[in-house]
Amino acid sequence: MPESAASEAARPTTAIIGSGNIGSTLARHLVRGGEPVVLSSKDGSRAEALADELGPLARAASVEDAIAGADAVVLALWLDTIKELIPQYALLLEGKVVVDPSNPIAFDEKGQMMRTLPERQSAGSVIAALLPAGAHYVKAFGTLSAESLGEGTYREPRRAVLFYATDADAAATTIERLIRAAGFDPLKAGGVAVAGRLEVPGGDLQQFGLNGQLVDLDQAHAAVAAVRQPE
Ligand SMILES: NC(=O)c1ccc[n+]([C@@H]2O[C@H](COP(=O)([O-])OP(=O)(O)OC[C@H]3O[C@@H](n4cnc5c(N)ncnc54)[C@H](OP(=O)(O)O)[C@@H]3O)[C@@H](O)[C@H]2O)c1
Repeated sequence: MPESAASEAARPTTAIIGSGNIGSTLARHLVRGGEPVVLSSKDGSRAEALADELGPLARAASVEDAIAGADAVVLALWLDTIKELIPQYALLLEGKVVVDPSNPIAFDEKGQMMRTLPERQSAGSVIAALLPAGAHYVKAFGTLSAESLGEGTYREPRRAVLFYATDADAAATTIERLIRAAGFDPLKAGGVAVAGRLEVPGGDLQQFGLNGQLVDLDQAHAAVAAVRQPE
């Protein structure tokens, strides 16, 4: 194999399951940052259109093939869908970094947002508990609205921060690489126990808990320290 093809084949690939607001924004950022992505959506058509748009670093695949061929898997899906999909693909998720941007929310018929989990239970804790023991869970990429995630990349003069939460060193290394590739500075807020701080409603490290602002690293460190973390 020529050297360039060998190094291309060795590059870690990120599966993005869901090609909606968050999935498509993230796919654009990662490809711009030089990260290979494999994209899925429910009926496949949005993933295929997005992969065509993004060029050689992107391809579309079934959920199964996308997960199988990836090192990291972003679940850019609604929480109920994530809860359905994890048991179906549990074996394939072993050993992978699993990135969760979800919130415990749904919308009623009037478009009002409702919390779908009890007050003190995070979507992160629910998803982490569903994953197989060998998967490396990380909460990330859900702390900004999709619009702000799209517009906030490579901010000058100081990068905007994306917070993450994980108990797994392997996941921390991977998510820091992906957050930087997406044009943001990463900051760990803590372990899975603090995932709720990164979610809406109620999370103080979510954009809506920060008065709608995107914060730089200094502001982000201060925000993390403002609340005492669980041991
Ligand atoms: N939107 C935001 O501003 C925002 C901000 C922060 C966090 N989040 C969180 O991010 C997550 C995704 O939100 P979103 O706004 O990106 O949702 P969305 O625009 O509705 O996109 C959902 C995607 O999931 C795909 N999908 C649904 N069922 C699937 C299945 N069984 N297999 C594969 N793909 C499936 C859909 O496929 P099709 O395209 O084929 O329908 C669609 O591409 C949610 O948990 C949300 O809470 C959203």
